[in-house]
Amino acid sequence: MFEDFSLVPPDPILKLIVEHKNDSRTNKIDLGVGVFRDATGNTPIMEVVKEAEHYLLDTQQSKAYIGLAGDADFNSAMQNLILDQNITDDRFSTIQTAGGSTSLRVAIELMRKSSKDLTVWVSEPTWNNHIPILDSVGVKVAKYPYYDAVNNQLDFEKLIECLNKIPSGDVVLLHACCHNPTGMDPSPDQWKVITDIIVKRNIIPFIDNAYQGLANSLSEDAFAVKLMAGKVREMLIASSCSKNFGLYRDRAGTLTIVSENAKTNLHTRSHVLKIVRTMCSVPPDHGCAVVSHILNNDKLRNRWIIELNAVKNRLKEMRALLNQALNDRATEFDSSHLIKANGMFSYLGVTAEQVQEMKIKHGVYMEGAGRINVAGITKENVNILADAIVDVL
Ligand SMILES: Cc1ncc(COP(=O)(O)O)c(C=O)c1O
Repeated sequence: MFEDFSLVPPDPILKLIVEHKNDSRTNKIDLGVGVFRDATGNTPIMEVVKEAEHYLLDTQQSKAYIGLAGDADFNSAMQNLILDQNITDDRFSTIQTAGGSTSLRVAIELMRKSSKDLTVWVSEPTWNNHIPILDSVGVKVAKYPYYDAVNNQLDFEKLIECLNKIPSGDVVLLHACCHNPTGMDPSPDQWKVITDIIVKRNIIPFIDNAYQGLANSLSEDAFAVKLMAGKVREMLIASSCSKNFGLYRDRAGTLTIVSENAKTNLHTRSHVLKIVRTMCSVPPDHGCAVVSHILNNDKLRNRWIIELNAVKNRLKEMRALLNQALNDRATEFDSSHLIKANGMFSYLGVTAEQVQEMKIKHGVYMEGAGRINVAGITKENVNILADAIVDVL
């Protein structure tokens, strides 16, 4: 049955992890990984998460199935967080999903069901799993310009020019904040311009919200989502709790559907649930139960915000540290984009050959296009890293 299968090449990032693991140099640096790391190189479990897990262990009475949409308390707490307001309007509904990736997949299945001829526009570049997920459902993929790699900044003019040509009814996939892989986000004023075009042209926004709270405050990071939710007819929001709760492998997330009216929302939601039924029957519970306990308890919620702020501040601090170390070396290389970008990722601004050279010569590992995870930087390795960068430039 499977004899005609050829070997699927390994995911480049997984290959990089193996190469880094097998590198015997003690001063090697891993900037490729897609998770947060603290100053000791560990990906910690948040204290509030541990506490919520103890609570669940002590109090949970059953592991019986939950419904297709997951837990209502989790869904409403997440909806309030994502939209930065208490929603009572039946135009909105949120369901529990197995992380952000499944939410994206369910949303695209839904879109494909509504139109066999659908085009989804993604930023160039975008997260390396977006296009494979879109391809797996069989929708058409188009790209809108996003990043000016010469000046290491958002290419807002070209982005707007393209949005102004996207046909009505097409879907545009946007990153709510902490754009992966570039870290460059539109400013609030730029989001207003983007939203106006989306409304005017009747484009459907599909927002990937994987990093809320890692750029600025939770509310500031919800700016684009809140703005669009108040203006557009329809929109989908795929959210993840992997990064802001550190729950990666526990698979916690949501899909939020914004519809023109309560009736279409109810109908759309029923189709979403049908997709969920055939995909995983019911969503996994543990991570979402942890998040629900935290968000629905004021004391834990406040402590979570403090822990999340520490994550965000470490990312900002490491960005500043690398920028300073590069400035101290007085090269012509302008690294100021590192402190203008948000979240875990940035394009360093080096070529693919320089990425290879840094790996081979200096044991510095990053994705082929020069995406770095700033959480891999520490006070101990920043000078080695800056020397390596200057050496290959
Ligand atoms: C932009 C973006 N979207 C979605 C995800 C999916 O996150 P998860 O499925 O782990 O919740 C990620 C994870 O790296 C991401 O970077």
